[in-house]
Amino acid sequence: MTFVRPRRLRSSHAIRELIAEVDLSEKDLIYPVFLLSEKDGKVPVQSMPGQNRVGLNILMKELGELVSLGLKGICLFPVVPDAQKSSDGVYSYNSDNFYLQAIAKIKEKYPELLVMTDVALDPYSTDGHDGIVDKKTGEILNDETLEVLVKMSLAQAQAGADIIGPSDMMDSRVGSIRKALENEGHKNTLIMSYTAKYASSFYGPFRDALDSAPKFGDKKTYQMDFRNSGEAIKEAMLDINEGADILMVKPAIAYLDIIAKLKARARLPISAYQVSGEYSMIKAAGMKGWLDSDGVFIESLTAIKRAGASVILSYYTAEFLKKLNS
Ligand code: PBG
Repeated sequence: MTFVRPRRLRSSHAIRELIAEVDLSEKDLIYPVFLLSEKDGKVPVQSMPGQNRVGLNILMKELGELVSLGLKGICLFPVVPDAQKSSDGVYSYNSDNFYLQAIAKIKEKYPELLVMTDVALDPYSTDGHDGIVDKKTGEILNDETLEVLVKMSLAQAQAGADIIGPSDMMDSRVGSIRKALENEGHKNTLIMSYTAKYASSFYGPFRDALDSAPKFGDKKTYQMDFRNSGEAIKEAMLDINEGADILMVKPAIAYLDIIAKLKARARLPISAYQVSGEYSMIKAAGMKGWLDSDGVFIESLTAIKRAGASVILSYYTAEFLKKLNS
């Protein structure tokens, strides 16, 4: 027997607290929100128990409480009515777009709260793809899509968004958006790039929430192959050179190795998105009484932070804030 006893460092609550390397806090979290065009609307997302699609008035009330509990940021996703959808997504930068108007209203009322946007065509697209589709071949057209993404990003920055979140995975979108932001006087607008976004089955419930599932095919010609990690590094290097401020890995819990790799190589903050499917799995098992879902949320979010993410997008954020303060 040696005199080394690892259990000494686990022997009391106080010593465990003293030596803990990471602690999850409200300062790490961004809350993703599904925004309805009806201001007083509130429609539960069936496949995401506890999450709702909400109109601006309802959201404003909720934010009042969450901001007072320490909420630092939200990421808004629009639930676009079918009548506003098209193949080219023009509604995304239309000045009477309810999403852009909401960003302005939220920033007016809560100037300290960070508002992050989503930049991609899928919520606005009749095809349910993140880019413009070639009608003949079904190809997702990269360079044609960039023009729309740039217009969308400028409209969002104009509305007051703090963080632009390109989630589309088109090549060179970060550079195109950064250049346009600089040219139009939005030099302090942050870009949190969805750098390593994998083609994942974990996005199912999100596509229900937004009614944005692809009408044909899948997203494998633009989102990354989950068998690979090398391209995550390539995408990270490109995004750094193109002017991204924060690099995101998505999904999170099945991609901790990718978070750790980017953290080790990039001198930029790393974020991770605990996506809809991750949320729903934990929730559903909790509702069945099969596990303690709060415990699993805290553990998985802490693991994501331990792997190297300093920002985490999670649907659990609101519950976390309420639990923390109760
Ligand atoms: C689409 C987008 C998706 C998510 C965020 N932005 C889905 C997709 O790529 O199909 C998923 C988020 C989640 O599952 O919570 N641009």
